[in-house]
Amino acid sequence: MWKHHVKLERNSIVLTIAILIAVSIGGAIEIAPLFWLESTVEKVQGMRPYTPLELTGRDVYIREGCYTCHSQMIRPLRDEVERYGHYSLAAESMYDHPFQWGSKRTGPDLARVGGKYSDAWHKDHLIDPRSVVPESVMPPYAFLVDKELEYRDIADKLKALQRIGVPYTDEMVENAKVDLETQADPFASPTALKERYGDKAIQRDFDGDPNRVTEMDALIAYLQMLGTLVDFKVYQAQDAENLR
Ligand code: HEC
Repeated sequence: MWKHHVKLERNSIVLTIAILIAVSIGGAIEIAPLFWLESTVEKVQGMRPYTPLELTGRDVYIREGCYTCHSQMIRPLRDEVERYGHYSLAAESMYDHPFQWGSKRTGPDLARVGGKYSDAWHKDHLIDPRSVVPESVMPPYAFLVDKELEYRDIADKLKALQRIGVPYTDEMVENAKVDLETQADPFASPTALKERYGDKAIQRDFDGDPNRVTEMDALIAYLQMLGTLVDFKVYQAQDAENLR
């Protein structure tokens, strides 16, 4: 056996062919099953596309480069799960184009920051992070309160996402502008918005200024929904059932 091996190792062409054969068998075993799977993302109850206001808030998040310091991906490791909550599921970022997993944590992970603080805390924190966390190194984003939200193109944004597979209905696209304004207006009727996006869509004045819709409104609406869509009490019950 060893004698043959010497022959193989001394002949580089034969060795290359042997390596190619070995690697392609391994590759085929890994890749082939994916052609028969309908989807590699497990469907999870509660996931829905972003509301128009959350989506514009997400665009502010991307524009300001929040992802350069914050990840949105809780890894299935004990220290992360104890600090941030249930590890991230593939389904939780299935409507993200582009995803915001991030690769650096100068600040904490934000995948489940929704509901952790009040809107007023977020506003104060974004205006001047050191006013609420004295040792913070996060930069201030005070201008967001004064910048009126630009959303003339919101229906087109939904349409573009619809085209690449996000399940926005035509009704959602048609009503994108109205839904955006409704979500930031505490006095508007939420019925139609909740019919389209579910009961968990939060409707209120996020930035403390009910007279106009600012970038601060949109960004806080986005932060407050992060990680709140999947009900993990139900999800874990399902999980336990599957294991049985
Ligand atoms: C230079 C790095 C940096 C950038 C850029 C940055 N942050 Fe932070 N962020 C931090 C650090 C550090 C902390 C932890 C200290 C604190 O709470 O201020 C933090 C904390 C936070 C928290 C509180 C998280 C928690 O669980 O306590 C939120 C929310 C947040 N940032 C949102 C944002 C948003 C939104 C943006 C973009 C507009 C942003 N950050 C940009 C560094 C950054």
